[in-house]
Amino acid sequence: MSQTREVGRVVRGMAASDGAGVKLNRVIGGPDLPQLDPFLLLDEFRSDDAADYLAGFPEHPHRGFETVTYMLAGRMRHRDNQGNTGLLGPGSVQWMTAGRGIVHSEMPEQENGLMQGFQLWVNLPAKDKMTAPRYQDIEPGKIPEVESTGARVRVIAGSYRGVRGPVQADATAPLYLDVFLEDGEFEAAVPVEHNAFVYVYEGSLDIAGRAVTRGELAVLRGGDTVAVRAGDAGARFILVSGRPLKEPVARYGPFVMNRPEEIRQAMRDFTEGRLA
Ligand code: FE2
Repeated sequence: MSQTREVGRVVRGMAASDGAGVKLNRVIGGPDLPQLDPFLLLDEFRSDDAADYLAGFPEHPHRGFETVTYMLAGRMRHRDNQGNTGLLGPGSVQWMTAGRGIVHSEMPEQENGLMQGFQLWVNLPAKDKMTAPRYQDIEPGKIPEVESTGARVRVIAGSYRGVRGPVQADATAPLYLDVFLEDGEFEAAVPVEHNAFVYVYEGSLDIAGRAVTRGELAVLRGGDTVAVRAGDAGARFILVSGRPLKEPVARYGPFVMNRPEEIRQAMRDFTEGRLA
């Protein structure tokens, strides 16, 4: 018997500024929802005012987790200090495993127009925090789409109705779906022990009797099925789930480890040029 998940908390993002002054909506990683194990941060960026994004994210480090950038509109150039570079365009995903460390920049490659997307941080277990850095750069055409009446689903990670997304992330086995729901209902299976959330970025949804509208994240609890119904004007949302790591989290800015001493080590390694 399948059991439908209920809505635990509903969290509205908080306006924030990051990088060199990029305006964004911080949904996970702020005071209301500091984390949802294994997810450490979710930022939504959406602006057609270049002043909100032009400054970009100049060179900065990461260690101990994965950053996932999903672009809906606009272009962002990625560069690291090992010479890796990539252009993220509309519909593309970069799943970057920072592991023991990278130093990179993420800069807009446009001077006007809409820039829209998400950055999600996925924690790594202690055993993988110092793994070699790895990039999974996924072009839009490599993300399978599943269509049914009233719905179009892009499968970025995990599987939906037997269709597997291209991302490999074994430790947390994430599901990452981008769903366009014009009307009617949508259902997806999630492992009962995984944490899961829905973030609505257009329109509204009814989830187990609760209205969740644009800009709101619903934490979903207790079940193996996520079931939602489109609001009057339909909805666009992401559904994300992952296996909780249940390990201690010590974080400071772009470093996420298990113990404070490991954070101090990361800062020393960065300062002394050992991070990449
Ligand atoms: Fe970054």
